[in-house]
Amino acid sequence: MRTIDFPPELRSFLHRTSKLAALTGAGVSQESGLRTFRDAQQGLWAQYKPEDLASPEAFARDPKLIWDWYTWRREAIKGVRPNPGHYALVEIEKQIPEFTLITQNVDGLHRMAGSQNVFELHGNIQLVRCSECGEFADEWDDDLESVPQCKACGGLLRPDVVWFGESLPLDQLEGAVEAARTCDVFFSVGTSGVVQPAASLAHAARNNGAVVVEINAELTSLTEKADFFFHGKSGEILPELVKALWS
Ligand code: OAD
Repeated sequence: MRTIDFPPELRSFLHRTSKLAALTGAGVSQESGLRTFRDAQQGLWAQYKPEDLASPEAFARDPKLIWDWYTWRREAIKGVRPNPGHYALVEIEKQIPEFTLITQNVDGLHRMAGSQNVFELHGNIQLVRCSECGEFADEWDDDLESVPQCKACGGLLRPDVVWFGESLPLDQLEGAVEAARTCDVFFSVGTSGVVQPAASLAHAARNNGAVVVEINAELTSLTEKADFFFHGKSGEILPELVKALWS
């Protein structure tokens, strides 16, 4: 594996920072074997764009189709483990006095790895709630001909994730915005930065004087505005960063 050259200014910022916020996207889970959001559709589902399935309109039109898509995605996550990128973020949290992890991922892998201060902007695919009364369901039958129903009110169950056109959970969003506005270093890792409001967090941090560090396998719209850009896999770059700075 090549050794990454972390510039002395970055080392100095990271050694001095007391407040770091990190935004992650689907790229961080790619090395756990999960396909990224925009590259996810396979088999039966290849004919659909995820954007056309992850919406309240799609659920209203064909709830069983959407339920089955999430069941398929939940199955794909079963047995998936965090990768070295997730664990490196846990290590960084131990080194920085105030560390906030903001994720767009619904796979729960950051918490599984051991990250503590986590805001999940887009929900968690493992949780299921009623589309009518909001009551969470602990168990449901996936083998029915139709979408399972809420035991409390009979409404259709749905995944506890944010769909296009829906608001983000306010407590998670407020926590993320506060962390981005007040941090001295902001990491953007494995996200294409095309979905708002998550994409605006790096800019909010930058406008408030934070040093912005991007790690991505490709260039994004943030790249030229970032103070530091590391081109490659987060599961390789983050552990190297931890090793170079804190071991
Ligand atoms: P995307 O699928 O849009 O982007 C994944 C990003 O990860 C891309 O920029 C890739 O270049 C990068 N990438 C892939 N593998 C990587 C690796 N091993 N290391 C580092 N980077 C890697 O996923 P998100 O940006 O997470 O929202 O998408 C954001 C949101 O868009 C999702 O949460 C979802 C979708 O709309 C909802 O469902 C509400």
